[in-house]
Amino acid sequence: MAGLFISFEGIEGCGKTTQIRLLEDFLKLRSHDTVLTREPGGTRLGDQIRKILLSVENRGMFPVAELFLYAAARNQHVEEVIRPALKDGKIVLCDRFADATTAYQGAARRISGDFLEQVHKMAAGGLKPDLTILMDLPAEVGLKRAWERNEREKITGKEDRFEQEAIEFHERVREGYLMIARNEPSRVKVVDATEPADSVRQRVVQEIMKIVK
Ligand code: TMP
Repeated sequence: MAGLFISFEGIEGCGKTTQIRLLEDFLKLRSHDTVLTREPGGTRLGDQIRKILLSVENRGMFPVAELFLYAAARNQHVEEVIRPALKDGKIVLCDRFADATTAYQGAARRISGDFLEQVHKMAAGGLKPDLTILMDLPAEVGLKRAWERNEREKITGKEDRFEQEAIEFHERVREGYLMIARNEPSRVKVVDATEPADSVRQRVVQEIMKIVK
């Protein structure tokens, strides 16, 4: 039996990590077999690449170098974790996937869509989620939340390489995501992430129940 592939997307501070965990609890309570994973990451190699990508020491990274690092992490993740889990009939919940590349490396860093598509074919065989929850909110609200979270969790050095980008960068990321949602409305469901967490949770569950039997 083929499984289900669900991804969560959104700008920094949109609350997707909290929501994906709540969704995993919800599905587990209903005896679904789930795999919760994330990008970049999800494998040993992916976690190592993640450190390189997020480190503020690598501020001088060029957009194509960045793209290939995401692609390398994704290839390992798809082969080692995602495809085997789907083959076993599991529900894969992925905190970011290829739409993040379209939004960050495409819309924000301005790498061409054709090139991104070719790279995605090589890295992931063009794999797409069955459903994507896009948690939407204005960049300034998201960034404020991300900074407050860093403060709470006492993350040393505070922001990562992306959180240090200007607000305009994050607005372009948001626009990039909304464009994907306009182009693929049956796959990508936009959820208003400025709503209280419990309303967001209910909205997410509503969407999931349409495809989870
Ligand atoms: P996270 O903070 O949601 O774990 O994501 C890590 C950062 O990586 C976030 O700033 C978005 C960025 N990113 C990309 O730029 N391209 C990608 O393909 C992915 C998966 C993430």
